[in-house]
Amino acid sequence: MKLIPTGAALAAEITGVDLRAITDADFDRIHRDWIHHLVLLFRDQHLTDEDLIAFSRRFGALDWAPVQETGRRFVEGHPEIYVVSNVIENGVAIGSLGAGEAVWHTDMSYIPDPPKASMLYALEVPPAGGDTGFLNMYAVYESLPPDLKRRVQGLQLKHDGTYNSGGYLRLGVDAVDDPVNSAGAVHPLVCTHPQSGRRALYLGRRRNAYITGLPLAESEALLEELWSYANRDELTWYNRWRPGDLVLWDNRCTMHRRDAFDSGARRIMHRTQIKGEARPAA
Ligand code: OGA
Ligand code: MN
Repeated sequence: MKLIPTGAALAAEITGVDLRAITDADFDRIHRDWIHHLVLLFRDQHLTDEDLIAFSRRFGALDWAPVQETGRRFVEGHPEIYVVSNVIENGVAIGSLGAGEAVWHTDMSYIPDPPKASMLYALEVPPAGGDTGFLNMYAVYESLPPDLKRRVQGLQLKHDGTYNSGGYLRLGVDAVDDPVNSAGAVHPLVCTHPQSGRRALYLGRRRNAYITGLPLAESEALLEELWSYANRDELTWYNRWRPGDLVLWDNRCTMHRRDAFDSGARRIMHRTQIKGEARPAA
């Protein structure tokens, strides 16, 4: 097993490993590297859904996948697998997020105990586009000027549960566009990572976000200011997918997004999400 840091603000590739056959010692090393690099890429894997679930379970119990936009619950027999795909079969989308852009977000932050990690396994990828970007939220926090760090200390953010990152309404939820009253979960705006002990800004996603207790206009102004520090290319790394790529990320200290791609091309990814805990305030 060999670790090759991307040289970007986060992420490393691990080569020389078949994720179907790792030892406990391999896993310990992968876990350590993941905490250190936030995102890990493993290429040329050959995983069935059972293999993907087995590797994922090494990190802890899995959350069930969110309900897809179509109302389909999950892959038959595997409630842990979330399908991200634009493919339409018999007139029905087999997965979520379509072919458009997916905006910066962390997964399932609209629940009280959001997953600590997610992993995405590429089955089919388009010839161009559909790259996934990751953003280092420790670095975003560290880049804030001291007065802004003081202002956000102790604040709580409501993370919207109305829309997913593709802009689609979540099933069974009313289309509410008022950040104060939309459904969601409240988390500390600055969190301490339980393993690394480092502070990260926890923004979740921009749409319908609301800093609780503030007048809406103040919340919006402060969020715009914070997001201006998050929208920084030099704090990102992008994966140009190949079939057989598995990318594992830490939802406690990263955000991710996806570039749009040609809707005539096929993209099929299977995701798992590892149960997390309430985010500890810094
Ligand atoms: C996800 C996600 C983006 C992508 O699976 O959580 O945001 O690139 N996917 O498919
Ligand atoms: Mn996501």
